[in-house]
Amino acid sequence: MATTTCPLTLLLFLLLLSGHPYSSSAASPIKTVVVLVMENRSFDHMLGWMKKLNPEINGVDGSESNLINTTDPKSTRVFFGSQSHFVDPDPGHSFQAIREQIFGSNDTSTIPPPMNGFAQQAKSMGSQHAQRRQMNGFDPDKCVIGGSPPCRRPRSPTACTSTPAPPTAPPPMWRRCWPKRYPQRTIFEDLRGRMEYPSEYTSQNIPATLFYRNLRKLKYVGKFHPYGLSFKKDAENGKLPGYVVVEQRYMDSKAEPANDDHPSHDVYQGQMFVKEVYETLRASPQWNETLFVITYDEHGGFYDHVATPNHGVPSPDDIVGPDPFFFKFDRLGVRVPTILISPWIPKGTVVHGPNGWPFPTSEYEHSSIPATVRKIFNLSSPPLTRREAWAGTFDGILQTLKQPRTDCPEKLPTPVKIRQGDANEDAKVSEFQQELIQLAAVLKGDDLLTSYPGKIGKNMSVREGKEYMESAVKSFFEAGFAAKKMGVDEQQIVKMRPSLSTRP
Ligand SMILES: *[C@@H]1O[C@H](CO)[C@@H](O)[C@H](O)[C@H]1NC(C)=O
Ligand SMILES: *[C@@H]1O[C@H](CO)[C@@H](O)[C@H](O)[C@H]1NC(C)=O
Ligand SMILES: *[C@@H]1O[C@H](CO)[C@@H](O)[C@H](O)[C@H]1NC(C)=O
Ligand SMILES: *[C@@H]1O[C@H](CO)[C@@H](O)[C@H](O)[C@H]1NC(C)=O
Ligand SMILES: *[C@@H]1O[C@H](CO)[C@@H](O)[C@H](O)[C@H]1NC(C)=O
Ligand SMILES: *[C@@H]1O[C@H](CO)[C@@H](O)[C@H](O)[C@H]1NC(C)=O
Repeated sequence: MATTTCPLTLLLFLLLLSGHPYSSSAASPIKTVVVLVMENRSFDHMLGWMKKLNPEINGVDGSESNLINTTDPKSTRVFFGSQSHFVDPDPGHSFQAIREQIFGSNDTSTIPPPMNGFAQQAKSMGSQHAQRRQMNGFDPDKCVIGGSPPCRRPRSPTACTSTPAPPTAPPPMWRRCWPKRYPQRTIFEDLRGRMEYPSEYTSQNIPATLFYRNLRKLKYVGKFHPYGLSFKKDAENGKLPGYVVVEQRYMDSKAEPANDDHPSHDVYQGQMFVKEVYETLRASPQWNETLFVITYDEHGGFYDHVATPNHGVPSPDDIVGPDPFFFKFDRLGVRVPTILISPWIPKGTVVHGPNGWPFPTSEYEHSSIPATVRKIFNLSSPPLTRREAWAGTFDGILQTLKQPRTDCPEKLPTPVKIRQGDANEDAKVSEFQQELIQLAAVLKGDDLLTSYPGKIGKNMSVREGKEYMESAVKSFFEAGFAAKKMGVDEQQIVKMRPSLSTRP
């Protein structure tokens, strides 16, 4: 069976700022960390062409290429372009596809990986335009994230660690194996012990953070808020908690287009969302104590020229992936964009890596987020995993200025709309959307009704899936509040009675 593994995304950007360990033990000026994880785009695809605006960025100049057949030097050479547009369908990003993209073959022993199999892998998917799709990036003036931007650096690439404890949505592999339980400790619990830094979540269709079983406990019920009703209001009133995870819409509808940047969704919508969150934070009385982190969950199959680290990367916890790959989670994934925004970061900062700290092979990757939060808030709990202990942290980046900057723009430019036409609400749900529907089924108790919970949602349209998950979320929280009122133990998780039998 083809198991999709978390594509361990990853990172780097070769350190420039030598002798400057980006870690510090002094008290941090940051009291609120806001995290937004967008979906499935590589660094070069989103930001690579920004190199022409700032040569310090380890991006592209168009000389990057892949042969369409890695073993045939006479085969067509596909160069990286700047014509990225509306992407549909989604490029391949299964475990095997990624392995081929970064190694060009099934031989994974090369250090560092040659990053030469993107065109070949795209071709194997059969689409005529596949290579052009995967070997392309956005022109800097297409998106906010790429448009002449503000205070939003450093762009340090990170990664989706395949650790069972990333900051937000769990890596796909774990989702797939255990839709019901994703049981490990998370940074949210570590923060819960510190009343001054509560963690909260705002989401739209469904909070993907609920993949974490612990977060379904009654004690967290009051911590989830609908984005539209609460985020702006709390920011305006200076009431944002210490750690905020903001989730986007994963379901595309005419009235509310998806804004997660995931292909085939319009990047314009995702960038508008980034703009809205930024402007909301910028206008908040809490701005001077805020760090806003934007990253991507993985590269989504798009080309990146920087070799993924596959040497000296510790397994988070010695868990080994399933047959036939028995993947040891000892390699990071393809580089993704990461942008840190704060008035405490000097303008134009580009950071390439953690500079040999805390370990000589350390990199920035997704575990850098919990690691940074642990530092900034001086949490006494141990790292979640060995990967977190190894990951570089961003706290030192926030401690080079004596005062917060006052020149951060209040408004960001408006990105360019890319997709023509409306959302197709009758489209079948994607694999990821189906996983979200399965999560909704667990919340609703519908998974108990069938011996094939993995099939739930398979035949739903985007419209049906959206309705299903929104109603599941509503009943889950209603039942949770009712149970709390009745004095049920906070450690319990509400179990709903199945409703699937009453559905057509
Ligand atoms: C962090 O917490 C420890 C106690 O756990 C304390 O000794 C130390 O001073 C704190 N550091 C800062 C910067 O607040
Ligand atoms: C790639 O090139 C090799 C060597 O020329 C050839 O044996 C192989 O069939 C080619 N693969 C494809 C998919 O064309
Ligand atoms: C990798 O191995 C599989 C089966 O073992 C084969 O089907 C596939 O073509 C190989 N991929 C490459 C890029 O050689
Ligand atoms: C942030 O700090 C700057 C510099 O000290 C100050 O001018 C500004 O008013 C502060 N902004 C807020 C929202 O407190
Ligand atoms: C991103 O790619 C992974 C596969 O690598 C997939 O499992 C996941 O569902 C994708 N994310 C979305 C939002 O589709
Ligand atoms: C999906 O539809 C197909 C064809 O209509 C049907 O055979 C299959 O059982 C359906 N699957 C589910 C999970 O309802």
